[in-house]
Amino acid sequence: MRLVQHKQEAYWFYRFLSIFYDKIVNPLFWTVPMRDKALQLGQLQETGIKVVDVGSGTGFNTEGIVKIVPPQQVTCVDQSPHQMSKAKAKPELQGCTFLQGDAENLPLPSNSFDRYVSAGSIEYWPDPAKGIREAYRVVKPGGLALMIGPLEPANPVGRFIAELWMLFPKEEEYWQWFRDAGFADLQVCYVKPQWVDGKGKYGIALAGRKPLTATTEQPSSPSAETAPEKMGLGRRLLMILRVLIGSLAGFLFIPAALLGYVRMAFTDQSHIPEAERERLNRHQIVALLISAVLILLLIALLR
Ligand SMILES: C[S@@+](CC[C@H](N)C(=O)[O-])C[C@H]1O[C@@H](n2cnc3c(N)ncnc32)[C@H](O)[C@@H]1O
Repeated sequence: MRLVQHKQEAYWFYRFLSIFYDKIVNPLFWTVPMRDKALQLGQLQETGIKVVDVGSGTGFNTEGIVKIVPPQQVTCVDQSPHQMSKAKAKPELQGCTFLQGDAENLPLPSNSFDRYVSAGSIEYWPDPAKGIREAYRVVKPGGLALMIGPLEPANPVGRFIAELWMLFPKEEEYWQWFRDAGFADLQVCYVKPQWVDGKGKYGIALAGRKPLTATTEQPSSPSAETAPEKMGLGRRLLMILRVLIGSLAGFLFIPAALLGYVRMAFTDQSHIPEAERERLNRHQIVALLISAVLILLLIALLR
């Protein structure tokens, strides 16, 4: 079903999610240790490199990039002005270039970046293979692209809810998209937050190199295909319904994550060094307490 795997739907989803994305939602699913491990595949230490972060959102992934690459060499692209305004306000990201644009039709010349990075955005793209071909186009021959994204949940109930919300690709699909686009020397690593237990995979980081022998393509310009969709009343109503149901499915993962953290608090964590333990922040603790009070009130009212 994948109700929010569309540009307009994703736009409206982030119109509202951007308000509490950084403080409450994002740190439950995409943590600093996960990000820093995934970014290692991007080989960002090389001096003088130009990096583009696609689907950069509020700049959480970009904050990891600018720990290694000077902000003046980093370009952020996102289709959501609401997400981007949060990134623009972050002191660490001053000096980055911000462009509003579509991952499947990047407003960037061909062969212009040494590194392409995208984290947690591919799941909203209607045509992920096209987005990865765009990564290939904008990266210079010899440059690297790094895609970080979710994987299909192993649990059938989790998979059903996840797929109602957005795209959770199979691992083979990521590899196939990279190979079909022309990337070589693929490198992979897997990431998950500490509250996710079990052996199943959660998120993937896949990097590939554009061969030095790659031919130079012409710069592309936005095509009619990706021009902003004109919506009639029917399509608007359908979109509102899709965003509401898709968001509801997505939001079901929040209590699951909060409960995961509560469970962690009662289990032995001695195998994780103290400084590396992932914990709820104060905003999430307040959200957890408010949710608990609301649930108790609801139970009391229904009795
Ligand atoms: C989960 S957020 C990830 C943000 C950031 N990369 C991070 O690591 O926190 C996904 C972002 O992808 C953006 N996005 C979704 N579809 C897009 C598209 N077709 N083109 C550009 N950005 C897109 C959304 O606006 C949102 O900001």
